[in-house]
Amino acid sequence: MTRTYKIIVFSGDGVGKEVVPETVKILKSARDVVTGFNLEFTEFPCGGKHYLETGKEWPDEAWDACKNSDAILFGAIGWPGAVKSGGVLAGVDILLGLRFGLDLYANLRPAKLFEGIESRVLDKSSKDVDFVVVRENTEGLYAPIRGALNRGGIEELAVDVRVITRKGAERIIRYAFNLCMRRGGAPRDGKRRVSCVDKSNVLDGCRLFRKIYDEIAKGYEEIERDYVYVDAMTQWMIRAPEHYDVVVTSNFQGDIISDLSAVLIGGMGVAPSANIGEKYGMFEPVHGSAPDIAGQQKANPIGSILSGKMMLEWLALKHSDKACKRAAQRIEEAVSKVLIEGNIRTPDLCYGKYAGLSPSKTQEVGDAILRKIEK
Ligand code: NAI
Ligand code: MG
Repeated sequence: MTRTYKIIVFSGDGVGKEVVPETVKILKSARDVVTGFNLEFTEFPCGGKHYLETGKEWPDEAWDACKNSDAILFGAIGWPGAVKSGGVLAGVDILLGLRFGLDLYANLRPAKLFEGIESRVLDKSSKDVDFVVVRENTEGLYAPIRGALNRGGIEELAVDVRVITRKGAERIIRYAFNLCMRRGGAPRDGKRRVSCVDKSNVLDGCRLFRKIYDEIAKGYEEIERDYVYVDAMTQWMIRAPEHYDVVVTSNFQGDIISDLSAVLIGGMGVAPSANIGEKYGMFEPVHGSAPDIAGQQKANPIGSILSGKMMLEWLALKHSDKACKRAAQRIEEAVSKVLIEGNIRTPDLCYGKYAGLSPSKTQEVGDAILRKIEK
């Protein structure tokens, strides 16, 4: 029986409206070419601009639709001037609401450098960079335990509490080890390795995180243990990315090092991500709404398209669906071919030896990938 997956789509603000339609186009094409599974898309408006127009961040029925979905595709939120009372960015409660509300505890950010993209870091090629940052997504410094003290109109003090729980650490670290078992090891030596990134020389939360890492690591003899302090990690990731396979860390530290990892693979425009829980999954490019280039067909759709590919991989694993897996592979191969051919690329990738190219539009990159899928 052909399985149908219900996909909820939020293009959101800015370049989200340009890159997400390309992603849906690519997913539909891979579905039609591979066959054996079905995808049914339902789109809802959301974000800052929607808030300015309607006074709501998203329609009331969107939340229930997400709870009844098989997966969620997200673009980006955030629009200049779209701010709620208290100075909160309109739209941000959707993102955090989905992450917390659907308990999407694992944030995956693969840093894979494709052939045909020059790393912005010297002397590193596609053979050197292929690791995944597994970031805890529901606690740490972003747990909503915070406050400010205002005395006599003076802002005197602000506190953000960083929460590390045994449950939170256990499930993210276990996720990282299981993911490592499904991968081929680090580029440098082919060894399976999970690197624990923390600041356990100073912070109690990090000491608990590392203790639990050691407990879980005992169950995975074939995986090498590796420990890095987060401050040192910012240089090792750049100097020796080939050492890394899977990197596991807490929320705030993961936020920072995963943005850094995007530099290794060609920038924000090509960086994908997944937010995964026991039941739900939400897939989005790492970048935001990029108001500086929005509406001009300058945005690179590849970060979003590769997020769509991660969605298919996740559905394939969750439902043991081989057709979904083949469709994911087909998308990755198509992206790779377009990048290797080199002549069709958005402005963000026209540097280095591609500096002289005349840049392509968002849609042209989507079309080029589509042609490779259909071939
Ligand atoms: P941003 O990621 O939107 O843009 C940073 C830089 O990367 C800009 O120079 C932009 O032009 C470039 N860029 C982003 N996406 C690109 C793409 N697909 N192709 C080529 N270049 C791309 O981050 P920024 O400027 O800090 O934030 C803009 C808005 O987005 C803000 O309102 C922010 O709050 C929001 N935001 C939303 C996120 C989300 O929805 N998950 C994540 C990050 C920021
Ligand atoms: Mg970030």
